[in-house]
Amino acid sequence: MEKIVILTGAGLSAESGLGTFRDEGGLWAQHRIEDVATPEGFQRNPRLVMDFYNARREQAAQAQLNAAHKALARLQKEFPGEVIIVTQNVDGLHEKAGSAVIHMHGALDGALCAACDHRWQAPLRMAPGDACPKCNAPAARPDIVWFGEIPYHMEEIAAHLAGCTLFVAIGTSGQVYPAAGFVQEALMHGAQTVEINLNATDVSGAFQTHLIGPASQEVTRWVENLLN
Ligand code: OAD
Repeated sequence: MEKIVILTGAGLSAESGLGTFRDEGGLWAQHRIEDVATPEGFQRNPRLVMDFYNARREQAAQAQLNAAHKALARLQKEFPGEVIIVTQNVDGLHEKAGSAVIHMHGALDGALCAACDHRWQAPLRMAPGDACPKCNAPAARPDIVWFGEIPYHMEEIAAHLAGCTLFVAIGTSGQVYPAAGFVQEALMHGAQTVEINLNATDVSGAFQTHLIGPASQEVTRWVENLLN
């Protein structure tokens, strides 16, 4: 049976109006990674970090799906084989489209207790010192994987990569590991590889096929071809 593993990144949601990280004017041009996306930054200035994710949570909640999210949901529903979607995105748009998805970098709508690891639905606005509903420690944080932390579900993802016949990366720059290394793992296990992006990336050389253009167009066309 055919098994497709799809890795998505910020480029998938760019046409929904959500900024990417490394494109010109992207999030990492406006904010320092060390300040807003590391455990140390959170320790130094929890207010700044909460405000950063509060703003992104609000923006994501208002964002509309684009054609690429919808096409991937359709593929997952109609493809006769298995379709696994692994996302680095924290915006929740895959779910809104009806896809089942593995969130390797966490999600904006999640809160995590730094004291007891309990997880719950994040309110639209989180504040430093918010109490954990389970252990009551004032230790709530966004359930987002920061730099220096280990991405979620890595064993499950490795098993999917080992068993896939096709690996597709969409809208991701290939600059952040371990996700950037997934293509190599898939190749090692004999999978075909496709990259869909506006332009070449740091890892383009590892892909056999390149579909260059906006995700809304390229993903939609690719899905239509696969289903026909
Ligand atoms: P990046 O911002 O690094 O890369 C976005 C990619 O999307 C680039 O390769 C763009 O060329 C491409 N792109 C932009 N618009 C597009 C469009 N309309 N159609 C197709 N492609 C488009 O974002 P990621 O690779 O997702 O991690 O970043 C990976 C991780 O780095 C993120 O999950 C985040 C960040 O730091 C954490 O916060 C832990």
